[in-house]
Amino acid sequence: MVTRMDGKVILLTGATSGIGRQAAQALAPAGGRLVLVGRDRARTDALVGELRAHNPDVHGLVADLSSHAEIRRLAGEFLARHDRLDVLINNAGALFTTREETVDGVERTFALNHLAYFHLTTLLLDRLKATGAVPGQSARVVSVSSDAHRRAKMGWDDLELKRSYPAQGWAAYGQSKLANILFTRELARRLDGTRVTANCLHPGFVDSGFARNNGLVARVLMTLARPLQRTADKGAETVVWAATSPDLATTTGQYFKDCEARKTTKPAESVTDGLRLWELSERMIRA
Ligand SMILES: NC(=O)c1ccc[n+]([C@@H]2O[C@H](COP(=O)([O-])OP(=O)(O)OC[C@H]3O[C@@H](n4cnc5c(N)ncnc54)[C@H](OP(=O)(O)O)[C@@H]3O)[C@@H](O)[C@H]2O)c1
Repeated sequence: MVTRMDGKVILLTGATSGIGRQAAQALAPAGGRLVLVGRDRARTDALVGELRAHNPDVHGLVADLSSHAEIRRLAGEFLARHDRLDVLINNAGALFTTREETVDGVERTFALNHLAYFHLTTLLLDRLKATGAVPGQSARVVSVSSDAHRRAKMGWDDLELKRSYPAQGWAAYGQSKLANILFTRELARRLDGTRVTANCLHPGFVDSGFARNNGLVARVLMTLARPLQRTADKGAETVVWAATSPDLATTTGQYFKDCEARKTTKPAESVTDGLRLWELSERMIRA
């Protein structure tokens, strides 16, 4: 049973597939305003139309989250249309088996999986703080990370893996998911004293569109993996819980799995690396 969200505004990225789509389907009937971010106008509108049967206050925004300019436009559109933000869910992400660069010349995994979370959150932070500052209210940032961080480290001397792009993109993916945790902890630290929390989570190994953007071999491998995977609605459970549970109103800086706080790794606990990543990300989104 999802907590009622009447009067609240939720912004969810990666809403048109997989875990995000299931989270949107679970959140819509809970009331409040749900703003869904997709990258394809027709699919976003179709989902909004479907969910309006459960909640007339569902809206869609469209952006390519691998582009700095698109994220700025998205944030501007959100801020112009919605006067509060109770929950931001950073969910859109992907694995890329071959190295690519975005329109901004940034390695695509780092750009989409980390920089987009960082950029969108920082652009919306004042609105989150203002929402949380109202007596009796609080706001939260929920970022979808992954247990793939457990084998990862930050390759500070080659963060964008220009020299080599090992393990079919899994090194870049694991690093980006480690970055989600470092970002969350540094954000939580910076939000100390406000009524805005920042948490992240692992949704489990989920049967979704994940990795299927990488051609036939990847699609076959993901199909073979199905017996090991959980359904996308099960994968969305911890996302929805982290976004809505009243028990978490003041919980911050945590990594969740199966609706429980879990330990992470030593690299994910580094305060120095969290600060270093924050400062680097600030420079990269301005470049
Ligand atoms: N599946 C797993 O086993 C697993 C495990 C741990 C963590 N995760 C994390 O869970 C999150 C959701 O992944 P998923 O499993 O639900 O995969 P998915 O089904 O592929 O969904 C990814 C979502 O991100 C969106 N997206 C991708 N590139 C984008 C871009 N450039 N701009 C805007 N949106 C973009 C996709 O849009 P479209 O709908 O247009 O494709 C889709 O809605 C990711 O952060 C992933 O790292 C997944």
